[in-house]
Amino acid sequence: MSIRILRSFAVLLGSAGICVAATVGGGGTEAPAPGELGGPTTGLSPTEMGTWLAGEAQFDRAFHIADGVGTPEFNAESCRACHRDPVLGGAGGLELNVSRFGFDNGGLGPFQDLPGGQGLSKLRPPMINDRENYPVQADVFEQRQTPSLFGLGLLESIPEANILANEDPGDSNGDGIFGVARVLMIDGLPEVGRFGWKSQVPTLEDFVRDAMAGEAGITTPSVGRGFALSADADSVADPEFSEAEVDEMAFYLENLGPPLRVGSVAPEVVQGEILFTALLCSTCHIPNINGAVDPVFAYTDLLLHDVMPTDYRGMEEPGAGNGMFRTPPLWGIRHSAPYMHDGRARGLREAILAHESEGQASSDAFVLLSESEQSALIAFLRDL
Ligand code: HEC
Ligand code: HEC
Repeated sequence: MSIRILRSFAVLLGSAGICVAATVGGGGTEAPAPGELGGPTTGLSPTEMGTWLAGEAQFDRAFHIADGVGTPEFNAESCRACHRDPVLGGAGGLELNVSRFGFDNGGLGPFQDLPGGQGLSKLRPPMINDRENYPVQADVFEQRQTPSLFGLGLLESIPEANILANEDPGDSNGDGIFGVARVLMIDGLPEVGRFGWKSQVPTLEDFVRDAMAGEAGITTPSVGRGFALSADADSVADPEFSEAEVDEMAFYLENLGPPLRVGSVAPEVVQGEILFTALLCSTCHIPNINGAVDPVFAYTDLLLHDVMPTDYRGMEEPGAGNGMFRTPPLWGIRHSAPYMHDGRARGLREAILAHESEGQASSDAFVLLSESEQSALIAFLRDL
């Protein structure tokens, strides 16, 4: 009886909009409020808030052997294990990078995936999958850094046409910058990829299935879009994560609020913004694209570009060749060091200097700036 009264009191508080923070997850953490980093988008109804918290708890949850963790290979026991910096849903340090591998015949090509795909798991029981005895040995590897997930629902809301409008596959304006959308075939129909360093996944719900499989070795019900692992080789009955749980986690990601700008009007920041355009940064890191309702200020075109050295050897996928990566959003960039797909840049200055090929003109122009101009550009980036 008393428990029931307590419960209805909590519901009342929730519907009055007083109580937004709640104790969730294995860590017993307090969820940030709307508008705070790691909190939900503003304007969720009490019911939606309940779903968001349930999804956050799934994201924070540690999966055990009895829950089916592992295929039996896996990278970590939870989403939180990597997406945690500076709060749940954030980025991860170098030690949390994941690795991809393949065979490119010593750089001569053609690139080919080895059996089992590109993912090289971090954790696995010894003597499974017999990878030591592959007919050819992997000779090309790529590190992938854990990006932050704040505001991804807004990127998902951008209509495809608004992304395609910025493509320039033939460099028609001769600025040395191309830009192509990643087009994936889903159920036989083309769809623009938006998520992952090579834009290899179109929606957040697809990413939940993909990450549950690839990161945690947890099976999910398949919906035919090609991202679910619906059966694995451990002893727990499949699916190990229900459709309702997939939906909750997707809702959490879709409504995880964007990072807020510092919003400084200091002369240095204002000067940095002018330089950002002058150095062509804004050609790829487009300040905003129109979303479903409002412009989304994420500083990305969601297109693939090659900013890697010409002798770079990495992964290839259909529609995303060697060295092609999605322009990463720069909102909240101050929270997510290290930088670049492999985390090879410790800070923002190093990240800018690491731009070659399509980004060469930008990094060359950066080198020619005075020291105070360089600091101004960095100050602007740290304001985003
Ligand atoms: C071992 C570390 C690790 C774990 C555990 C992990 N992730 Fe990630 N996450 C990454 C990395 C690395 C990437 C980039 C992968 C790529 O593009 O190759 C990523 C990318 C993502 C993205 C796309 C982000 C973007 O900007 O496009 C989403 C969404 C995501 N993860 C969700 C999840 C969910 C949900 C879970 C739990 C099921 C999870 N991740 C568990 C490391 C991890
Ligand atoms: C040709 C398109 C292009 C131009 C021009 C460009 N960038 Fe980038 N930028 C990219 C791509 C693509 C990456 C990701 C590369 C990788 O992951 O290895 C990137 C990565 C970054 C990162 C690291 C982001 C992260 O999350 O790791 C920062 C910071 C950055 N760029 C800032 C700038 C600035 C400042 C300029 C101008 C001086 C600039 N970029 C010019 C395409 C571009």
